[in-house]
Amino acid sequence: MKYRHSYHAGNFADTMKHLVLIELLNALLRKPGEFVYIETHAGRGEYPLDARETRSTSEYREGIGRVLAAREQLDGPLRDYVELVLRLGGDPQSGRLQRYPGSPLLAATLIRPSDRAVLVELEPTERRALERALAEHRNVSVRGEDGYVALRGLLPPPERRGMVLIDPSYEAEEEFDRVYEALLDAHRRWATGIYAIWYPIKRRETVARFQGRLVRSGLRRILCAELGLYPQDSRVALNGSGMIIMNPPWKLDESLQTLLPVLQRALAARSGTTRCEWLVPE
Ligand SMILES: C[S@@+](CC[C@H](N)C(=O)[O-])C[C@H]1O[C@@H](n2cnc3c(N)ncnc32)[C@H](O)[C@@H]1O
Repeated sequence: MKYRHSYHAGNFADTMKHLVLIELLNALLRKPGEFVYIETHAGRGEYPLDARETRSTSEYREGIGRVLAAREQLDGPLRDYVELVLRLGGDPQSGRLQRYPGSPLLAATLIRPSDRAVLVELEPTERRALERALAEHRNVSVRGEDGYVALRGLLPPPERRGMVLIDPSYEAEEEFDRVYEALLDAHRRWATGIYAIWYPIKRRETVARFQGRLVRSGLRRILCAELGLYPQDSRVALNGSGMIIMNPPWKLDESLQTLLPVLQRALAARSGTTRCEWLVPE
């Protein structure tokens, strides 16, 4: 495993993924019943922007850096996301961002004491950093295993509500197949959970194959949200960021249809598109 998220932390894909994640968690938080948040590929929890890896690519400058610069023009959920990021990683004196919070830290901050989070990270150095980043959160447990294997044992959870985030590194194209199999298996074990899967948009045919399998799978209620920054099939490393959301909360489709174009403008994207539509409805 060569992938380190430190090279990409806070990039445009992270802003899209984390905005969607916060929308999902806020929907769960609207009801009083306790819920579980499970993450199969958790990363290290927070990312100092002055770390060597993060500085070497500086991808965050075209991601959270641009959203922060547009902060005063933002409102609603996008403004809330920026404020949360600043609260967790900003310097209170200068207001400048020093650390970008990963999905585990965002989720652990938002859930209530009665809720629970289980975070799985296979790479030992990343896992130890994750444990340090979340040490104060008593309702969070960290596991150092293969996320797909761990997920099987975690479902169905005793709480009857909750969500699973699957956010692998896609070092090989077969990762799309692993994700697909994991979703099918997870749905057999826990059909009512909310599942959010992040995927990279590099070659359009890879994504189309993955989505075609989902359409033919027999699974229902599958929403697809995408934010593209570069023309499809460009030779930049990442043309766009996509998410599959199965069993999305009520009206998530409508809120993302509004939010994604606002995020795209905040990212000062010159080309590209946003999309939020049902791959498979009810
Ligand atoms: C894209 S990063 C996660 C970023 C994180 N979700 C966030 O948004 O802050 C993917 C992580 O998965 C880890 N990983 C790779 N293969 C794994 C596996 N089979 N099981 C669990 N973790 C794995 C990598 O070490 C990496 O930290």
